[in-house]
Amino acid sequence: MVSIIVAVAQNGIIGDKNALLWHISEDMRFFKRTTSGHPVIMGRKTYDSLGRPLPNRTNVVISRTANHIEGCTIARSLEEAVAMFPAEEEIFIIGGAQIYALALDIADRIYITRVEHDYEGDTSFPRWDESKWELKQREAFPCGEKYPYPFAFECYDRK
Ligand SMILES: NC(=O)c1ccc[n+]([C@@H]2O[C@H](COP(=O)([O-])OP(=O)(O)OC[C@H]3O[C@@H](n4cnc5c(N)ncnc54)[C@H](OP(=O)(O)O)[C@@H]3O)[C@@H](O)[C@H]2O)c1
Repeated sequence: MVSIIVAVAQNGIIGDKNALLWHISEDMRFFKRTTSGHPVIMGRKTYDSLGRPLPNRTNVVISRTANHIEGCTIARSLEEAVAMFPAEEEIFIIGGAQIYALALDIADRIYITRVEHDYEGDTSFPRWDESKWELKQREAFPCGEKYPYPFAFECYDRK
């Protein structure tokens, strides 16, 4: 099973200059809790922005150019990365935009954190046809413990 996990600003932005634009502790904890113990698949630029493999998860980096990244497995395509794991395993596609664009065709589930604020950035979540997805869960917050704007955790399954 292939799941996308992403945090998206109200205006579609997900990052700028290869970094995140907000710090929402609740979202960091949600990401950790949801992905821990599962494989995570990411694009090489997202790996660069993290700077290290995520602990307690098998890290796969998709790249046409990199040959070795300490603590990670390299894949040359999304298909090659997904084929490394049994079908019953929940695999998380953790970004960025280039890899989300590929993954939207094959994903079964999307965990999306809606950040209810506009940000300026150079990277957006690709357009997706929400009518093909069913909202299964939503948990909304007026703000975070240290974050001033509303946000919500939503989970969609492909219809
Ligand atoms: N808000 C969120 O939830 C979230 C999550 C993750 C990332 N982000 C943000 O997203 C941005 C990074 O996204 P991005 O779209 O620029 O980069 P990306 O998707 O993380 O990585 C792009 C790289 O992946 C490799 N790649 C892409 N398509 C490929 C293919 N078909 N076959 C083989 N390799 C392929 C290439 O690596 P090589 O150049 O090595 O060949 C390419 O340069 C950052 O700002 C980051 O902070 C946000």
